[in-house]
Amino acid sequence: MATEKTPNNKWIDPIKWNTAAAQYDNAVGRSSGIAAARLITLANEMHPLNAPSVRAIDLGAGTGSLTHLLAAQYPGLNILATDISPGMLEQLMSITHDQTKVTAQVVDMAAPIGGAATESSFSHVFSTMAIQALPDPAGEGTLAQWARLLLPDGIVAIGLWDFDENCGPHALWEEAATAVDPGYTNPPLLPPRHWYGRAELEQGLKTAGFRDVKSEVMHIGFDVGKEGFLRFFWESGNPMARDRQASFNGDLKKVREEMERLLDEKYDKGAKIPLSAALAVGRKPLAG
Ligand SMILES: C[S@@+](CC[C@H](N)C(=O)[O-])C[C@H]1O[C@@H](n2cnc3c(N)ncnc32)[C@H](O)[C@@H]1O
Repeated sequence: MATEKTPNNKWIDPIKWNTAAAQYDNAVGRSSGIAAARLITLANEMHPLNAPSVRAIDLGAGTGSLTHLLAAQYPGLNILATDISPGMLEQLMSITHDQTKVTAQVVDMAAPIGGAATESSFSHVFSTMAIQALPDPAGEGTLAQWARLLLPDGIVAIGLWDFDENCGPHALWEEAATAVDPGYTNPPLLPPRHWYGRAELEQGLKTAGFRDVKSEVMHIGFDVGKEGFLRFFWESGNPMARDRQASFNGDLKKVREEMERLLDEKYDKGAKIPLSAALAVGRKPLAG
Protein backbone atom coordinates (compact mmCIF):
# COMPACT_ATOMS: atom_id res chain seq x y z
CA MET A 1 0.00 0.00 0.00
CA ALA A 2 1.55 3.33 -0.99
CA THR A 3 1.86 6.14 1.58
CA GLU A 4 1.33 9.80 0.64
CA LYS A 5 1.54 12.14 3.64
CA THR A 6 0.60 12.35 7.30
CA PRO A 7 -0.94 15.58 8.64
CA ASN A 8 -0.83 16.49 12.35
CA ASN A 9 -4.39 17.73 12.87
CA LYS A 10 -6.11 15.85 15.73
CA TRP A 11 -9.32 15.53 13.71
CA ILE A 12 -7.55 13.56 11.03
CA ASP A 13 -5.11 11.73 13.26
CA PRO A 14 -4.46 8.34 11.62
CA ILE A 15 -3.49 6.77 14.95
CA LYS A 16 -6.92 7.50 16.39
CA TRP A 17 -8.59 5.97 13.36
CA ASN A 18 -6.23 2.99 13.35
CA THR A 19 -7.44 2.19 16.88
CA ALA A 20 -11.07 2.57 15.86
CA ALA A 21 -10.72 0.42 12.72
CA ALA A 22 -11.21 -2.99 14.28
CA GLN A 23 -14.58 -2.07 15.83
CA TYR A 24 -15.77 0.26 13.10
CA ASP A 25 -17.91 -2.14 11.11
CA ASN A 26 -19.85 -3.26 14.18
CA ALA A 27 -21.56 0.06 14.76
CA VAL A 28 -20.69 3.08 12.65
CA GLY A 29 -20.08 1.03 9.51
CA ARG A 30 -23.61 -0.35 9.70
CA SER A 31 -25.14 3.14 9.54
CA SER A 32 -22.71 4.52 7.00
CA GLY A 33 -23.44 1.47 4.81
CA ILE A 34 -27.11 2.46 4.61
CA ALA A 35 -26.11 5.95 3.47
CA ALA A 36 -23.55 4.52 1.04
CA ALA A 37 -26.18 2.32 -0.64
CA ARG A 38 -28.40 5.33 -1.33
CA LEU A 39 -25.46 7.46 -2.47
CA ILE A 40 -24.48 4.79 -5.02
CA THR A 41 -28.03 4.91 -6.41
CA LEU A 42 -27.93 8.72 -6.69
CA ALA A 43 -24.50 8.57 -8.37
CA ASN A 44 -25.61 5.91 -10.82
CA GLU A 45 -28.64 8.01 -11.80
CA MET A 46 -26.38 10.97 -12.61
CA HIS A 47 -23.59 9.01 -14.29
CA PRO A 48 -24.18 5.27 -14.90
CA LEU A 49 -21.67 3.10 -13.07
CA ASN A 50 -21.73 0.41 -15.74
CA ALA A 51 -20.77 2.75 -18.60
CA PRO A 52 -17.45 2.18 -20.41
CA SER A 53 -14.32 3.80 -18.94
CA VAL A 54 -15.83 4.15 -15.51
CA ARG A 55 -13.32 4.34 -12.64
CA ALA A 56 -14.07 5.28 -9.04
CA ILE A 57 -12.09 6.59 -6.10
CA ASP A 58 -13.33 6.45 -2.51
CA LEU A 59 -11.80 9.20 -0.34
CA GLY A 60 -11.71 8.50 3.40
CA ALA A 61 -12.89 4.98 2.58
CA GLY A 62 -12.40 3.68 6.12
CA THR A 63 -13.04 -0.04 6.33
CA GLY A 64 -14.94 0.13 3.04
CA SER A 65 -18.66 0.64 3.73
CA LEU A 66 -19.03 2.20 0.29
CA THR A 67 -16.18 0.47 -1.55
CA HIS A 68 -17.49 -3.02 -0.76
CA LEU A 69 -21.07 -2.21 -1.74
CA LEU A 70 -19.87 -0.64 -4.96
CA ALA A 71 -17.64 -3.60 -5.78
CA ALA A 72 -20.48 -6.04 -5.11
CA GLN A 73 -22.95 -4.11 -7.28
CA TYR A 74 -20.49 -3.37 -10.11
CA PRO A 75 -17.95 -6.21 -10.21
CA GLY A 76 -16.28 -4.85 -13.36
CA LEU A 77 -15.55 -1.46 -11.82
CA ASN A 78 -12.01 -0.41 -10.87
CA ILE A 79 -12.06 1.22 -7.45
CA LEU A 80 -9.22 2.97 -5.66
CA ALA A 81 -9.95 2.96 -1.93
CA THR A 82 -8.04 5.65 -0.04
CA ASP A 83 -7.75 6.79 3.55
CA ILE A 84 -5.30 8.60 5.83
CA SER A 85 -5.29 5.58 8.14
CA PRO A 86 -3.35 2.47 7.08
CA GLY A 87 -5.23 0.49 9.77
CA MET A 88 -8.58 1.27 8.11
CA LEU A 89 -7.27 0.27 4.70
CA GLU A 90 -5.78 -2.98 6.01
CA GLN A 91 -9.19 -3.90 7.37
CA LEU A 92 -10.77 -2.89 4.04
CA MET A 93 -8.39 -5.01 1.96
CA SER A 94 -8.67 -7.99 4.30
CA ILE A 95 -12.31 -8.39 3.25
CA THR A 96 -11.91 -7.46 -0.42
CA HIS A 97 -12.78 -10.34 -2.75
CA ASP A 98 -11.25 -9.15 -6.00
CA GLN A 99 -7.96 -7.39 -5.33
CA THR A 100 -7.43 -6.82 -9.04
CA LYS A 101 -10.45 -4.49 -9.13
CA VAL A 102 -10.20 -2.90 -5.69
CA THR A 103 -6.84 -1.44 -4.73
CA ALA A 104 -5.86 0.75 -1.79
CA GLN A 105 -3.57 3.69 -1.19
CA VAL A 106 -2.93 5.92 1.81
CA VAL A 107 -4.05 9.42 0.75
CA ASP A 108 -4.81 12.67 2.54
CA MET A 109 -8.14 13.68 1.02
CA ALA A 110 -7.22 17.37 1.46
CA ALA A 111 -4.53 16.90 -1.23
CA PRO A 112 -5.42 13.62 -2.92
CA ILE A 113 -3.51 13.77 -6.19
CA GLY A 114 -0.52 11.44 -6.28
CA GLY A 115 0.40 7.80 -6.90
CA ALA A 116 -2.56 5.95 -8.43
CA ALA A 117 -4.81 8.92 -7.67
CA THR A 118 -4.06 10.56 -10.98
CA GLU A 119 -5.53 13.78 -12.27
CA SER A 120 -8.52 13.68 -14.70
CA SER A 121 -8.84 9.92 -14.51
CA PHE A 122 -11.95 9.12 -12.45
CA SER A 123 -15.57 9.17 -13.56
CA HIS A 124 -16.74 9.04 -9.92
CA VAL A 125 -15.25 10.55 -6.78
CA PHE A 126 -17.02 9.09 -3.75
CA SER A 127 -16.66 10.01 -0.12
CA THR A 128 -18.85 8.99 2.81
CA MET A 129 -18.71 10.26 6.38
CA ALA A 130 -15.19 11.61 6.02
CA ILE A 131 -15.27 15.19 4.67
CA GLN A 132 -16.32 16.55 8.07
CA ALA A 133 -12.75 15.94 9.26
CA LEU A 134 -11.67 18.92 7.17
CA PRO A 135 -12.37 22.66 7.65
CA ASP A 136 -14.42 24.43 4.97
CA PRO A 137 -13.79 22.02 2.07
CA ALA A 138 -15.07 24.56 -0.46
CA GLY A 139 -13.17 27.64 0.77
CA GLU A 140 -9.95 25.75 1.48
CA GLY A 141 -9.86 24.31 -2.03
CA THR A 142 -10.44 20.65 -1.09
CA LEU A 143 -13.38 20.30 -3.47
CA ALA A 144 -11.36 21.93 -6.23
CA GLN A 145 -8.78 19.18 -5.70
CA TRP A 146 -11.48 16.53 -5.92
CA ALA A 147 -12.72 18.10 -9.15
CA ARG A 148 -9.21 17.75 -10.58
CA LEU A 149 -9.41 13.98 -10.09
CA LEU A 150 -12.46 13.86 -12.37
CA LEU A 151 -12.81 13.26 -16.09
CA PRO A 152 -14.63 16.12 -17.87
CA ASP A 153 -18.17 14.85 -17.18
CA GLY A 154 -17.31 13.03 -13.98
CA ILE A 155 -19.22 13.45 -10.75
CA VAL A 156 -18.66 13.70 -7.01
CA ALA A 157 -20.94 11.83 -4.64
CA ILE A 158 -20.57 12.85 -1.01
CA GLY A 159 -22.25 11.67 2.17
CA LEU A 160 -21.89 13.11 5.65
CA TRP A 161 -23.44 12.81 9.09
CA ASP A 162 -26.28 15.25 9.60
CA PHE A 163 -25.46 16.58 13.06
CA ASP A 164 -28.85 18.17 13.72
CA GLU A 165 -30.56 18.29 17.12
CA ASN A 166 -31.89 14.77 16.52
CA CYS A 167 -28.42 13.25 16.34
CA GLY A 168 -29.02 10.36 18.77
CA PRO A 169 -25.47 9.42 19.82
CA HIS A 170 -24.69 13.03 20.66
CA ALA A 171 -28.01 13.60 22.45
CA LEU A 172 -27.56 10.42 24.49
CA TRP A 173 -24.14 11.50 25.72
CA GLU A 174 -25.29 15.04 26.50
CA GLU A 175 -28.35 13.91 28.40
CA ALA A 176 -26.40 11.36 30.44
CA ALA A 177 -23.51 13.71 31.17
CA THR A 178 -25.70 16.63 32.26
CA ALA A 179 -27.77 14.30 34.47
CA VAL A 180 -24.56 13.50 36.36
CA ASP A 181 -23.15 17.04 36.26
CA PRO A 182 -25.83 19.68 35.56
CA GLY A 183 -23.08 22.29 35.04
CA TYR A 184 -21.45 20.33 32.21
CA THR A 185 -21.31 22.00 28.80
CA ASN A 186 -21.02 19.64 25.86
CA PRO A 187 -18.44 21.10 23.46
CA PRO A 188 -19.38 21.43 19.77
CA LEU A 189 -19.05 18.18 17.84
CA LEU A 190 -16.79 19.77 15.26
CA PRO A 191 -14.27 22.60 15.22
CA PRO A 192 -15.30 25.91 13.60
CA ARG A 193 -15.70 25.87 9.79
CA HIS A 194 -16.35 22.12 9.57
CA TRP A 195 -19.61 21.03 7.94
CA TYR A 196 -22.60 20.06 10.07
CA GLY A 197 -25.09 18.93 7.44
CA ARG A 198 -26.90 19.23 4.15
CA ALA A 199 -27.02 23.03 3.82
CA GLU A 200 -23.23 23.39 3.95
CA LEU A 201 -22.71 20.37 1.71
CA GLU A 202 -25.04 21.64 -1.02
CA GLN A 203 -23.81 25.23 -0.80
CA GLY A 204 -20.17 24.10 -0.70
CA LEU A 205 -20.55 22.09 -3.90
CA LYS A 206 -22.21 25.02 -5.65
CA THR A 207 -19.54 27.44 -4.41
CA ALA A 208 -16.85 25.13 -5.78
CA GLY A 209 -18.57 25.29 -9.18
CA PHE A 210 -20.09 21.78 -9.34
CA ARG A 211 -23.07 21.58 -11.69
CA ASP A 212 -26.48 19.88 -11.46
CA VAL A 213 -26.09 19.57 -7.67
CA LYS A 214 -28.73 17.38 -6.00
CA SER A 215 -28.93 16.75 -2.29
CA GLU A 216 -31.14 15.02 0.26
CA VAL A 217 -31.32 14.04 3.91
CA MET A 218 -31.88 10.40 4.78
CA HIS A 219 -32.73 8.84 8.11
CA ILE A 220 -30.24 6.02 8.65
CA GLY A 221 -30.55 5.41 12.39
CA PHE A 222 -27.83 4.20 14.70
CA ASP A 223 -29.89 1.23 15.79
CA VAL A 224 -27.10 -0.94 17.12
CA GLY A 225 -28.86 -2.07 20.32
CA LYS A 226 -27.95 -1.25 23.90
CA GLU A 227 -24.82 -3.41 24.09
CA GLY A 228 -23.74 -2.26 20.63
CA PHE A 229 -24.07 1.37 21.62
CA LEU A 230 -22.19 0.91 24.88
CA ARG A 231 -19.37 -0.89 23.08
CA PHE A 232 -19.24 1.85 20.44
CA PHE A 233 -19.22 4.67 22.96
CA TRP A 234 -16.96 3.28 25.69
CA GLU A 235 -14.73 0.73 24.02
CA SER A 236 -14.36 1.26 20.28
CA GLY A 237 -11.94 4.19 20.48
CA ASN A 238 -14.12 6.22 18.08
CA PRO A 239 -12.72 9.78 18.08
CA MET A 240 -16.11 11.44 18.69
CA ALA A 241 -16.78 9.31 21.78
CA ARG A 242 -13.24 9.74 23.08
CA ASP A 243 -13.46 13.53 22.74
CA ARG A 244 -16.76 13.62 24.67
CA GLN A 245 -15.28 11.57 27.50
CA ALA A 246 -12.16 13.75 27.66
CA SER A 247 -14.34 16.88 27.98
CA PHE A 248 -16.00 15.57 31.18
CA ASN A 249 -14.36 16.10 34.58
CA GLY A 250 -16.84 14.10 36.69
CA ASP A 251 -17.43 10.39 37.27
CA LEU A 252 -17.64 8.67 33.87
CA LYS A 253 -18.87 5.44 35.48
CA LYS A 254 -22.02 7.28 36.57
CA VAL A 255 -22.47 8.71 33.07
CA ARG A 256 -22.31 5.22 31.65
CA GLU A 257 -24.96 4.02 34.12
CA GLU A 258 -27.19 6.94 33.19
CA MET A 259 -26.65 6.18 29.52
CA GLU A 260 -27.74 2.58 30.12
CA ARG A 261 -30.92 3.82 31.77
CA LEU A 262 -31.67 6.19 28.88
CA LEU A 263 -31.04 3.47 26.33
CA ASP A 264 -33.54 1.22 28.10
CA GLU A 265 -36.20 3.79 28.77
CA LYS A 266 -35.98 6.33 25.96
CA TYR A 267 -34.29 4.58 23.05
CA ASP A 268 -36.08 1.23 23.04
CA LYS A 269 -33.01 -0.64 24.37
CA GLY A 270 -30.89 0.93 21.65
CA ALA A 271 -33.14 -0.30 18.83
CA LYS A 272 -34.19 3.27 17.97
CA ILE A 273 -31.34 5.76 18.06
CA PRO A 274 -31.99 8.57 15.56
CA LEU A 275 -29.30 9.58 13.11
CA SER A 276 -29.45 11.12 9.62
CA ALA A 277 -27.09 11.45 6.70
CA ALA A 278 -26.87 14.25 4.14
CA LEU A 279 -26.12 13.09 0.61
CA ALA A 280 -25.24 15.06 -2.52
CA VAL A 281 -24.08 14.54 -6.08
CA GLY A 282 -22.72 17.08 -8.55
CA ARG A 283 -20.99 17.23 -11.91
CA LYS A 284 -17.44 18.47 -12.45
CA PRO A 285 -17.17 22.27 -12.81
CA LEU A 286 -16.56 23.59 -16.30
CA ALA A 287 -12.95 24.62 -16.79
CA GLY A 288 -12.05 28.32 -16.37
C1 LIG B 1 -16.29 8.04 9.93
S1 LIG B 1 -15.02 7.27 8.96
C2 LIG B 1 -15.88 6.95 7.42
C3 LIG B 1 -15.38 5.74 6.71
C4 LIG B 1 -16.20 5.25 5.51
N1 LIG B 1 -16.11 6.15 4.39
C5 LIG B 1 -17.63 5.01 5.88
O1 LIG B 1 -18.52 5.66 5.31
O2 LIG B 1 -17.91 4.15 6.71
C6 LIG B 1 -13.97 8.60 8.55
C7 LIG B 1 -12.73 8.18 7.81
O3 LIG B 1 -12.07 9.33 7.33
C8 LIG B 1 -10.68 9.09 7.42
N2 LIG B 1 -9.99 10.38 7.35
C9 LIG B 1 -9.96 11.37 8.27
N3 LIG B 1 -9.22 12.38 7.81
C10 LIG B 1 -8.77 12.04 6.58
C11 LIG B 1 -7.96 12.69 5.60
N4 LIG B 1 -7.47 13.90 5.77
N5 LIG B 1 -7.73 12.05 4.46
C12 LIG B 1 -8.22 10.81 4.25
N6 LIG B 1 -8.98 10.15 5.14
C13 LIG B 1 -9.26 10.76 6.29
C14 LIG B 1 -10.52 8.34 8.73
O4 LIG B 1 -9.29 7.65 8.80
C15 LIG B 1 -11.73 7.42 8.68
O5 LIG B 1 -11.43 6.20 8.07
